Amino acid sequence: MKIKKVTKAVFPVAGLGTRFLPATKSIPKEIMTLVDRPLIQYAIDEARAAGIKEFIFVTSRGKSALEDYFDHSPELESTLRKAGKDALLEILKETNMDSGAIAYLRQNRPMGLGHAVWCARRLIGDEPFAVLLPDDVIASEKPCLQQMIEAYEQTGGNMVAAMEVAPARASSYGVLDIEEDLGAIVRVKGMVEKPTAEEAPSNLAVIGRYILSPKVLTNLNKLKQGAGGEIQLTDAIAEEAKSGNVFGYRFRGQRYDCGSKAGFLQATVAFALARPDLRDEFGEYLTDLMALQQAAQ
Ligand code: G1P
Repeated sequence: MKIKKVTKAVFPVAGLGTRFLPATKSIPKEIMTLVDRPLIQYAIDEARAAGIKEFIFVTSRGKSALEDYFDHSPELESTLRKAGKDALLEILKETNMDSGAIAYLRQNRPMGLGHAVWCARRLIGDEPFAVLLPDDVIASEKPCLQQMIEAYEQTGGNMVAAMEVAPARASSYGVLDIEEDLGAIVRVKGMVEKPTAEEAPSNLAVIGRYILSPKVLTNLNKLKQGAGGEIQLTDAIAEEAKSGNVFGYRFRGQRYDCGSKAGFLQATVAFALARPDLRDEFGEYLTDLMALQQAAQ
């Protein structure tokens, strides 16, 4: 089986980020920082590590800060250069994209994740592609998308990142209906978006990393409304599952739900503690804080 290389990725970033108001009144949620890097940078780095060469952003009004973030900043760069701040210039390099490597297009109405991905159909064309939801930040030794691409090179078809969740949490996710459990990989026969605990076909939930065949875009052409009245990516993938072409992948790593305040805070603490330049000072502060809290109880 000849499997086409995945070189394009879609980043759906059109959401209003209402859970983070008032902060998101004037900054896109994806620019909010975990330590000192915007959320979106983590997703871009992960995609780059997996060999992605073309980055497609599906945006909406009020997201222009994202375009500036990935552009050169000549004034800032020349000030840093003159001041001999080479380390900072190096850090800035990670934010620059080659001309033509990044495309922005608008989803002009919030019609769901499936619709956002469908908006990118002409740029994707007839190729397999990845989708990364920047709200899902995954800390792992090998970047999650890279793990998935390696698995996909064995299976072909479509692959979604999967993680075990408690039944009470099923209603926050797309949930896999499993045909065959092969260990790290599961063959899927269906998928249900945001089921109740009783309806959930398994405890394996979809996390925001996908490798999809262009057939999924064809399925999205129908623009059929699903859960919550939205056009669901889950439904378009589920249609492919009928022909045995969808796999779930149990990735190795820790996922943080940075779409929620608690998840964002957990990721902030974990990422700060993983940083050599912050670990000691911040770790000590946390230990003292816990001791104070316990003493007060
Ligand atoms: C989206 C998908 C859902 C998936 C989740 C992962 O939901 O629709 O299938 O499980 O991302 O984070 P959202 O969180 O955008 O409501």
